[in-house]
Amino acid sequence: KTPLWLDCDPGHDDVFAILFAAYHPGINLLGISTVFGNAPLETTTVNAASILTSIGKHNDIPIYAGASQAIARPPMNPPTSIHGKTGLDGTDLLPQPKRDPKWTESATAAMAAALLAQPADTAVVVATGPLTNIAILFRDYPQLAGHVKCLSLMGAAFGGGFTDVSLGTVDDPNRIGNYTRWAEFNIVADPEAAAQIFSDNIIAAKTTVIPLDLTHQVLATERVRDLLLYGKSGQRNGKAKTTLRQMLVELLMYFADTYADVFGITVGPPLHDPIAVAAALIGTPWEISFHDSDDQGSKQSERFSVTVETKGSYKDAVEGKTMTGMTMQIPLEPGSDGVTIPRSLDFSHFWTVLEDCIEMADEK
Ligand code: BDR
Ligand code: CA
Repeated sequence: KTPLWLDCDPGHDDVFAILFAAYHPGINLLGISTVFGNAPLETTTVNAASILTSIGKHNDIPIYAGASQAIARPPMNPPTSIHGKTGLDGTDLLPQPKRDPKWTESATAAMAAALLAQPADTAVVVATGPLTNIAILFRDYPQLAGHVKCLSLMGAAFGGGFTDVSLGTVDDPNRIGNYTRWAEFNIVADPEAAAQIFSDNIIAAKTTVIPLDLTHQVLATERVRDLLLYGKSGQRNGKAKTTLRQMLVELLMYFADTYADVFGITVGPPLHDPIAVAAALIGTPWEISFHDSDDQGSKQSERFSVTVETKGSYKDAVEGKTMTGMTMQIPLEPGSDGVTIPRSLDFSHFWTVLEDCIEMADEK
């Protein structure tokens, strides 16, 4: 099993990252840390605890509250137009947490201890929120960069995420990012943290970036939502197979509505975050096939250097906002030290595996 630490900011799609990491038979989920992002830290932390309770894993997996604001910036406004005020709007089925998160112990100390207790080159870090905790972790525990096997993160946008007309009436074909026209949320929420990670050659060489360009292809369409609601062989009779499935699909429906309202993407919400967990299994027997732009299957030979705009020197001509958090990908020679950026994956395999994880959670 791949030992894995998940850093997240739940958030509708983070819920599915937690579920995938907690139930995938190829993953040993060591712990969860939370970060500000889709809602303030207190809220994302209670949300994570509620989700673990809903899937019956509260006694098995510890949760540590991490950073409440970016390394070098004041607290930000959460994206309430996407995730609502609670970060998980859209369902009344979330349970009260049955176990308290760890509020006062250091999240990064706990992460470091858990990761360093694993044999070298085995443990994986997955980040599905702003990169603050991850940047602090690698800054304060420099020995970790050489020790971990990989860092898989959902973040960044390079263009392409909003241009596919099959998504619906996309509001602005020149749009690249989701928080601003140029920047993806997890990066713009702490651009200095992201810049620190991408500019460290040792870490970058182990990093897989799952950008909006890819996650906007992973759409929880009505067909997918039916699969998750009724199960593989369940009857499509309007009645969810279990309360857990009902809750998950209510969350997806809310996310679908906000994505349609805000971006005009009408076929279903992109399920960003669990893709970063799935990518952590590349190279293991549980691999879901991810593809480079040259379509060479999971060989993943393309390498990139990623830059993050942190200075706020440029303003967008349409919205007048600064382009802080904008990311650029610079191709490197294959085999160089640089990040991997998959361009597509085996979508139907991914949905089947996610549904398997729900089935296992149902049985718990
Ligand atoms: C990312 O931002 C958040 O809203 C989602 O949870 C995801 O991690 C997508 O840009
Ligand atoms: Ca997230």
